[in-house]
Order: sequence, then C-alpha cells, then structure tokens
Amino acid sequence: MNKEIADVTEQLDEPKLDLHGFERPRELLGQIEENLACLLELVKRPIISARQFNGDQLLQLSRLAARFETQPQMIQRPLTGKILISAFYEPSTRTRLSFESAWHRLGGDIMSITQANTTGIAKGETYADVAEMLNAYGDVVVLRDANQSSVHEMVRSLRIPIINGGNGLDEHPTQALADIYAMLKWNPRAFVAPRARPNLRLGIIGVPSKMRTVRSLLLLLRNFPKTFTEVVLITDDEAPFDEGQHEELLESGMKLKVTQDFRKELPRLNVIYQNAILWTGEGYESIGHKFRLDRKSPLREDAIILHPLARGPELSRQLDVTPHNWYFAQARGAVFVRMALLATILKIFI
Ligand code: CP
Repeated sequence: MNKEIADVTEQLDEPKLDLHGFERPRELLGQIEENLACLLELVKRPIISARQFNGDQLLQLSRLAARFETQPQMIQRPLTGKILISAFYEPSTRTRLSFESAWHRLGGDIMSITQANTTGIAKGETYADVAEMLNAYGDVVVLRDANQSSVHEMVRSLRIPIINGGNGLDEHPTQALADIYAMLKWNPRAFVAPRARPNLRLGIIGVPSKMRTVRSLLLLLRNFPKTFTEVVLITDDEAPFDEGQHEELLESGMKLKVTQDFRKELPRLNVIYQNAILWTGEGYESIGHKFRLDRKSPLREDAIILHPLARGPELSRQLDVTPHNWYFAQARGAVFVRMALLATILKIFI
C-alpha cells in the first residue's frame, strides 16, 4: 500500500482526540486579570510589526480572544456597517480566511482582493494612490504582499488602520499573536507569573533572518524573557540572523541557544515551533526535508507542537491524532485573537 494511504488508514482506526479547543481558554481567563486600558494605545493604529506590542497588551489581547472563544454570546455584531478591505497579493489560507471569519463574526462586511493584477497596480498605479482610494472605501485594511515595502508605502497615505498580514521575509505580526495565544492556553502561568527557573524549553526550527513567522514570534517573546529557561533555535543556516537581530534578542534577557543537533534537543523541548518556508528574495522555498517531525521523533510525552502552516514534509500527518498536535488549535485560535485585535483597533469592548 502507498505509504501516505497507509498512514491515513492507520489514523482512521484511532479515536479522535479533543484538540484543546474549549477548556484551555477558560483556564487562561482565570489566570489573567482584566486590564483593558493598556490596549488603548493600539486604537486606530496601523499594525505593521510585532515590535508594537508589550507584554501587558499581549496578555490582554489573549484574554479578549479567550472571551470570544468561550463566550460567543457576548458578540452582538458591533461592526455592522463597517467594511474590511482584505487585500492578499500573495497566496494565503489561514490569514485571509481567519481575518475574514473574525470580521464576519463581529458583524462587518468585506471587500476582498486576492490578486494584485485585478487592481490598478497591474497598470502601474502606485501603492500611495491605491491607499488613497481605500481611505474612501473601507474602515480597516489587511494587506499581504511578497513585497516587503508595500505595507510601509501604503501606511504613509492611509488614514484608516492597516494590518500587516505578512510582508515578504520581514514580518507576520498577527501570526505571532496567534502563536502566543496558543502558548498562553497551554501554560498561562508560565507567561503571567513565571518562576525564576521554570525549566521549560521552547525549540524553534527555523531561520529568523529569512522566515517572517520566526522573526515576529521572537520579537514578541522578548516581552516574556522568564517564561522559558532556554529558547533553542534549530537551524543549519550559515546566516540565521540579520545584523543586530541576535544581539537584540539577548538584550531582552532571553536565553537563546543556536544548534543543528535536532535529535539531541528534541527530548528536552516542551514546545516545538516547526517552520519550513524560507524566503529567498525571488520567492520562497521549503526546507522541510531537513528537520522532520513524525511519530518516531524522540519527543517528550507532554511536548506540544506548533506550526504556522501550511505544512510540507517537515510535519507528518501521523502526528495529527496525537496529543502533540496543538497546531490545529493554534490555527483555530487565530480567528479569536484576530477578533481581539480588530475589536481593539476599532475600540470595541475596551
Ligand atoms: N500562517 C499563515 O500565514 O498561513 P497562510 O499563508 O495560509 O495565511
């Protein structure tokens, strides 16, 4: 039998596990005290970089996300009459659909652009002129563009907030919010009241200089230097950091180790953040064949796996039916954390 079919058949024989969807956000709500005032700084602001968030804001956004996830009855279509412009000039499953789901759940309407060549950009129109039109047509813009600078060009001409949905190899700040939300659900106390020696290790398989997800997550983790005893970056890239990037992370107090020794590190990791899409400048390539996780990987019994997805060979589908699978809960939670961010920017519930 074909190996992939054999894997799927094996999965069908197994009981379905509760993939951490419902109880965990309640625990988070109990651990984080409400302090929504710290979110006021984000009202009407563009969200371009993970650098914009501090620790209190991350806890409060996650708390608000947990309220949306556990108490859908609190939402009474506050965005009725508001329009989200969802401009995705590069492919996306999760970011576009979860932003649109978030906006719909808050009661708003959406205009969606899924190809730059259906707008005036195909005829040489500038981002500045497109932005001027968007001011008139909508209330918030979410932009994904392989061109790193386009979000910066647009923000100069926009009078409505823009959210960076991924700009080339630079940043993906709202993916990092979803990553933090997933980790907060896994262990809220490690973030809210970290002990002096928590003995928790986070492994990040990826390249911070060439992966926007890794870059943005590390920027957010600067706000929680005591949460992990060690952050272990697993890579064989010869230049894993941009100039000053490594130093900036160390300055935050983060204990950061860089290694290629994947199999030696795995049994010591509590959280594994798997990545494979590497930006090359021309486009992207997958390095998923190098550090593959599957059922035979030497994982701690209680280790959780996160992955921004889409996945390739680096994350076997065999793991989907194991308790290590937190990546589906992470993708699901992205809807609620994006609701929290949109509600904050539009000053709803705060
Ligand atoms: N995580 C993420 O950015 O996925 P998409 O490319 O599907 O949006």
